[in-house]
Parts: sequence; C-alpha cells; structure tokens
Amino acid sequence: MKKTQLSLTVNGQNYQLAPLPGETLADLLRNRLKLTGTKIGCNEAECGACTVIMDGEPVLSCSTPAERADGKTITTIEGLAKPEKLHPLQEAFIKHGAVQCGFCIPGQIMTSYALLQKKQKPSSADIRHALKDTLCRCAGYPTIENAILAAAESLQSGQPVAEPQVPPSATEGATVGTLKIRPDAVEKVTGEAIFTDDLKFENMLFAAVKRAGVPHAFVQRINVDKAREVPGVVTIMTARDVPGENIHGLVILDWPVMVGVGERVRYVGDAIAIVAAESQEAAKAAVELIEVDFDLQPVVSDAVQARKEGQPQIHEKGNLLKHIKVRKGDPEIGFAEADVVLEHTFHTPATDHLFMEPECSIAVPEGDRMLIYVGSQIPYQDRTQVARALGWEETRVRIVGQLMGGGFGGKEDIAGQIHAALLANATGQPVKLLFDRHESLIVHPKRHATQIKVKLGAKKDGTLVAAKTELYGDTGAYASLGEKVLTRATTHSAGPYKIPHVHADCYAMYTNNPPAGAFRGFGVLQSAFAFETMMDNLAEILGLDRIELRRKNALRVGDETSTGQIMRESAGLVECIDKVESSMLKVSGLPYEELFKARRVPDAEHLVRAWGFASAFKNTGLGGGADDTSGAEVELYEDGSFQVRSAAAELGQGLVTIMRMMVAEELAVPAEQVSVLVMDTDLTPNGGPTTASRQTYVTGNASRLAAKTLREAITATLSEKFDMAPEKIRFAADGVHVNGHTLNMREVYSEMKASGKDPRVLYEYHAPETKPLGQGGDMHVAFSFASQAAEVEVNTNTGEVRVLHVISANDVGRAINPLGLRGQVEGGVVMGVGHALLENFITKDGYVVTDRMSRYRIPSIMHTPEITSIIVEDPTKDGPYGAKGVGEIVLIPTPPAITNAIYNAVGVRFDSLPVDQEKLLWAMEENKRELLS
Ligand code: FES
Ligand code: FES
Repeated sequence: MKKTQLSLTVNGQNYQLAPLPGETLADLLRNRLKLTGTKIGCNEAECGACTVIMDGEPVLSCSTPAERADGKTITTIEGLAKPEKLHPLQEAFIKHGAVQCGFCIPGQIMTSYALLQKKQKPSSADIRHALKDTLCRCAGYPTIENAILAAAESLQSGQPVAEPQVPPSATEGATVGTLKIRPDAVEKVTGEAIFTDDLKFENMLFAAVKRAGVPHAFVQRINVDKAREVPGVVTIMTARDVPGENIHGLVILDWPVMVGVGERVRYVGDAIAIVAAESQEAAKAAVELIEVDFDLQPVVSDAVQARKEGQPQIHEKGNLLKHIKVRKGDPEIGFAEADVVLEHTFHTPATDHLFMEPECSIAVPEGDRMLIYVGSQIPYQDRTQVARALGWEETRVRIVGQLMGGGFGGKEDIAGQIHAALLANATGQPVKLLFDRHESLIVHPKRHATQIKVKLGAKKDGTLVAAKTELYGDTGAYASLGEKVLTRATTHSAGPYKIPHVHADCYAMYTNNPPAGAFRGFGVLQSAFAFETMMDNLAEILGLDRIELRRKNALRVGDETSTGQIMRESAGLVECIDKVESSMLKVSGLPYEELFKARRVPDAEHLVRAWGFASAFKNTGLGGGADDTSGAEVELYEDGSFQVRSAAAELGQGLVTIMRMMVAEELAVPAEQVSVLVMDTDLTPNGGPTTASRQTYVTGNASRLAAKTLREAITATLSEKFDMAPEKIRFAADGVHVNGHTLNMREVYSEMKASGKDPRVLYEYHAPETKPLGQGGDMHVAFSFASQAAEVEVNTNTGEVRVLHVISANDVGRAINPLGLRGQVEGGVVMGVGHALLENFITKDGYVVTDRMSRYRIPSIMHTPEITSIIVEDPTKDGPYGAKGVGEIVLIPTPPAITNAIYNAVGVRFDSLPVDQEKLLWAMEENKRELLS
C-alpha cells in the first residue's frame, strides 16, 4: 500500500512528511528540510557528493527514493558537529588543508564518518576502500587520507587533532610562508557553505534550455506552441526575443546566445530556446515539446580535417581561428648541424574539467537592475556579456559571485548567466538555471584536442640545436579562449630548454565539436607531453642519461626562450631537476644506474616497475602584450579588523587565503583579523580573469600594495599626531608603536577618522609590460618551472598501469601558504594521472559519447600515488614576496613522466593520451623482446 506519511529522524529531529512522487532523499533534505550541506554533483550515483548516513550506513541520497527513508534515522553533514564543537573529522579536514573548493567535502566527511563508526583504527587501505567512489576533483586525496587518520587518532586518544607535517617556506615572514587555514574552511566542513544552487528566492522560476542536439545544421523552423501548453510554463524565448545583441564570447564575439531560424547550429550544445517555469519538471517537460526542424550539414569533426580544402566552413571567415607562429633562428641550419634528427607526431584528446559543482546561475531583477548569482571565474566579463545581451548599460548588471565548487578554467565562459538574465527580465521574477551533469558535459568548453608533430635535432653530446613543431588545435564550434590557449601551447612547444633554432606553427581550427577553451595547463600540458616524450627518446638514441640531457639544455638565467625572452632571473629548473634526482635515489633506494631500469616485482613476475622523468615550464600571467591588471581595496573598520576586496575568483585554489595573508603581513596583524570579499562587481574592484596562474601574482600584488599604501597613510597620520618621524613608527603584533604609545587597530581607526582620513585604499596593480608574440623581448612576466619523476607498475597480464609514486619539484618563486600549496601540488599530480591514464572526452561526428559522469572517468583515491612534494623557491623580482604562479605547473609534467615510466617498464612508447590498457597489452605482446630479459 502506498504510504501517506513519511516518518523519519534527521539529525536528531523527527519529521512527518507527505511523500512526493519521484522525490529522492537528496531532494527531501535539500528542498524540504533546507539541509543544503548535502551536495549534488551528478545525480546519477557516480560522485558520492550526496552521501548521508542512514541507520549507520552511508547512502547516496541522490539515488535513494525518499520513501526508503521512512522509519529511518538520517545524519547529514549538518548533524555532525555538536554546538560550538566540531567533530574531529571536521577539525582534521580543516587543520590538514583537505578543504579546497569544498563541494565534495560533505560527502567525503560523511563517508569517513561511517567508516570510523565501524573501524576505529582504519588503515590507509580501509580509507581508500571506503572512499573509492567519493570523488574530489580538487583531488587532495593524500591530505584527505591523512586527515582521516588524524581524526581517528584523536577519537581514540581523546587528544586534539594532530598538526599536519608541512614544512613552512624557507623564507618565512610573520604570516607569509607560514601555514594558514582557509577563511571559509569551517563553513565548508559543516555544510553551512552556500553554493549558487543552495540559494532560494521568493517567486523563483526554474529554467531549462532546448539544445540543438545536432552538430551542424541550419535551423528551419522552431515551434514552441505545444511547450507553452505545459502547466507551469511562464515564458519561452527564442533568438528573436533577445533584446540586445544575440552574441557572446570571451575574446571574439562568435557564440550566439540562441540560434534562430535561418541561422547555423555549430555544435550539439547550441541553445535554440529557453523556458522559465514554476518548477524544474515543468521547464524540462516543455523543452521536450519544442519542435525544431534542421537542415543537417556535413560535420567537421577534427582540426586536421577542418584545414583541408573543400571542407564545410563553420564560420563566415572560414575554419581557421588563427595561425600562430614562433620564429627563432633557422631550424634548417640547426638540423644540418645536428648529429641526430628525430621526428614524431603525437595526439592528445579533449578532456573535461568535471568540476564537482555543475554550473548554476540565478538572475534576480531588482528595480531597474539585474543581479546574477553565479560562481564565475571572470565576474566583470560576465557583467559585460549579460549587459550586451540585455541591451543595457553594464552598471545595471551586478554579478554577485558565489562559492565555486571547482572551475579549473571551465567557468570562464558564459554558461547560464545570459539565459537566466533574459528570462528574469522577461518575467520580472528570479530565475534559476541549473545544469545537470549531462548538460554540463555537453555545453561548456573543454581542453583542446591536439595533434602535435615534433622534429628535434641534437648533437651527439645531447646539445639541442633545432626544433620544429606543428600543432593542430581543435577549438570546437566557438573561439572561447582558443587562440590564447593554443598560443601558449605553441610558445611552450619546444620545452623549457635553450635551443638556438625554433620554428613552431599552430593552426587553431574551428570544428563542430563542443568548444575548447581554458583548462588548467592552458595548452602547455599537450605540448609538454609531446616534447618530453621526444626528450626521452633522444636520450635513448644518443645513449645519454635522460636527466643529464635535460639538465644540459635547461633554461638558465641569461638564456633565451623560443620567443626571444631573456631569462634575467628566477629560473629554477636546474634546481628542480637536481632535487627530483636526489629524491628519487632516496625514495627508491636504487643505485643511480638502476634508476630507470625495469624491475620485476619479486613473487609477482607479471608486475613490472620503473621510474620516468619529465620537466616543464609555464608562464605566469596573461603576457603577450595584454594589460594584466588587478584591483584590490583594503579597509580598516571601527572594530580594528581589516577587509580586502577584489573581484578575482576563488574557485577552491586558495586565493582568499593568499590575499588575507599578504594584507596581514603588510599590516603586521594576525591573518584572522583580515576578512576577504571577492567576486562582486558592485563591491569589489576588477581582479580580471582567474586564468593563466595569474592571481597570486597580480591580485596578490594588488592586495599587498593596497595594504602597504594604507600602512603608509596610517603612518603619516600617526606621525603628525604624535610628532614622530614616520620611519620610527613600528607596526608589530601587539599594535602600532609610536612615541611611547602602543595603539591597537581600533585606536588607529579612531585616529584616522579624527584626522579626516579615510582608512581605505584602492590599489590598481599593473603587471610589468610584456610584448606580443613575434616581437621578441619579454612575452611573460615570469615562468614557473617543474620536474617530476613517476614510478609506475605495469601488469603485463592485463595492461593495467598503477602509478605508485610521484616526486614533484616546483619552482614557485615563493611559497606564500605552504598548506594551500600542498593541496595544489596533490591536485595537479592526481589530475595529471587522470590525463595520462583515464581521461578522454569522446565525440563521434560531433556527437558527445562521454555525456554522463559514468562515461567520463576521473581519478579516485584509488588512483592516487604517494606524492613527494619539493618546493623550490627561486623568487621573481616583481612577484609578491617573490611568488610566481603555481596552479598549472604542478600538473603539466605528470603525463609524460608516467608515459616515459611505462616505456622504461615495458618498452612501449605512447604517442597519444590517455594510455589505453588494451593497446598496451597488445603492444607488449608485439614487442615481447623489449620486455625484461
Ligand atoms: S550526486 Fe549523488 S552520487 Fe553524485
Ligand atoms: S574539495 Fe573536493 S571537489 Fe573541491
């Protein structure tokens, strides 16, 4: 018999609720009980974000019918902490820095909680087994594991959670260089953190988008009549209803807000119509009833095809977005001088960011303005793009940035912001547009699939003399940041090495695939895979040591890059190489000559292990002549606290901690005395895009210099008031020392006000000028460098590859927050493991095959190697305290280090990613003699 009443206990409270058809436990918790700490990452039982405890067992609430909770006791993340006291798991996650974007954290903690209920002293294997299906894309898995072990220890001993073992920066300041936890960590472990989808507004409507579903066609007819009949539908809009310009794009305006009748569909994710309805179900039902007739066109499905004669032209100007060229010397002269010349072609696939939080935008009309609640990597550009489509002045639009559950470059382009705004404008009501995972996978830009040909010439002693590269990059249907990404791929395509003759040509091509844009590594991941594979190949052919080959050619101070930039300082590659080399010797216990040899595992002859090595570099900042600017404002409040504000984006990477630490350092106050506000176009100055590993550098500098300027203003005020030379006034932890007085910051505030001074400084920081590609000189303000060694184990029976250990040395200039930096290193390495072994966004003739989370594999805790992180600090002159970018470099050498290790283990060299287990097995059989003798 159908139940008429559900009775359940949630976090100690009893509820009697009427059942709703089709309701899941997650819906019930989030929508009816307002317990939004339980997150939805996939809604298809794949990610674990929605885990809650039901009668002591962890369950995926997104796939548990609410009716099944009848008579049960449920604990959610909100029920874990006692009043004023966090659970040791929550405390350990905070202390150890396991919280990054935080979106997966409720699921991680609840799964761990269930484990600790059963096993008080879990082993690492127990933890890995328990968390194997609970995904974290920030991928701080080693730290999550350590946090659980520390929590278990604390629960056993009754002692406080032990501190993490993370060395501080070699040059510690009072705050900078020490370990600091995130300002938003507590809310992220208690479920109080609010992401966009957690927000509710009165009279809020729900939106859905009719996608083209075909990759290339002309729209002949759109009929929304049946859709309008769906009860609850409030409005339906098509291209002709866009009041402003029906176009958007980050660099080039080539992406229609909606494709209208007579216009061209260029990929399956193109929007045809948008619906606002009183419920999500009604909006989706209406979308299903929208009729569209297409005149289907032949599909361009890869970049090489796109450049061939006679292919369909996807945009009016053709299929070539840009031909990017690097010219240094004359490679033909170099190849003529070379003792050996190698040439090979490599392929890398499109990959998806798979941030745990799917895109969500809520547009709220307010008077004659529109507020957009969204997690965006470029709030000010969102404002411009929304205003353009509405046909409004920009200042009438306000982007109210929300916590972001990861981005990795995938939240730079417009997702639902414009559509939600159009519907809210048309209806006068708030409108939420939430992508499900399927829509997220289909619509947003990916990492560029590439084909990269490398020709490399060297002398017998390993001196590199010439390199010629030819790249094809598939930027999909729209430009997004394709030109910028592929420029980085091209300028980095001869590796971090000194080579006198380099030519590179890249063809950034439009195709009918989903667009490609920014993704952590920004094109350099692809070219590093190709070039570092060639470097190992070269070492083998010349009979040279692969580490020595890299050390010999590494860019050093005084050397010139492929684009004509002289490295004047901060080139820590050799130190990275040296430190990884000595760490490998220590970690492996092997003699040097055995380091890269294959080793069979005793008593398991089918398992073969070996190490591999790779290096990389990555620019910090926009460079290439762009105006790289960020603004920050620092204000002293009456209560003696400070706030630092910038519209730079926090997507989990830890910028908010960096900003508060830098302000605290300059003003000699505890970091906790500084709050941070980001991503609001009304309240925070423009921080520019969060891309190109630029924010620590530019917004860090803006925050630091705003604080420094405020300190100078305070000094000037006190100097006058207390009649003391400014240079004698001292800022210290206990206050400002001036002429025998020690003033706390409350008193400083009063003095500033009394003297008519505003205790607030806005600072706009402009990074040093750079030159566009082709002009020589400084194309970038700085480069980060890295080397990595990976140890793999190949199962010769199955082709399965396990990465056992990665040693990662990164020259980051200066480690501002070593705790956050560790998270970046771990996350980068694990994402690199994914790109080497798992990740492949598959399209077939423009249709997306990997259109569900279950079809797109990313690394879990089970794929996580042991990670040894080595921080190299070769400071850069203009970086804040010497810091350079870190977010991308940590990932780039991982795939070639792994594929080089596979070759060293079993003699199979991969020239495409990801490593295909079947292919490896087949290749091993074909090349048996190359296996161990
Ligand atoms: S949201 Fe339930 S498993 Fe992903
Ligand atoms: S902290 Fe796990 S997904 Fe970001």
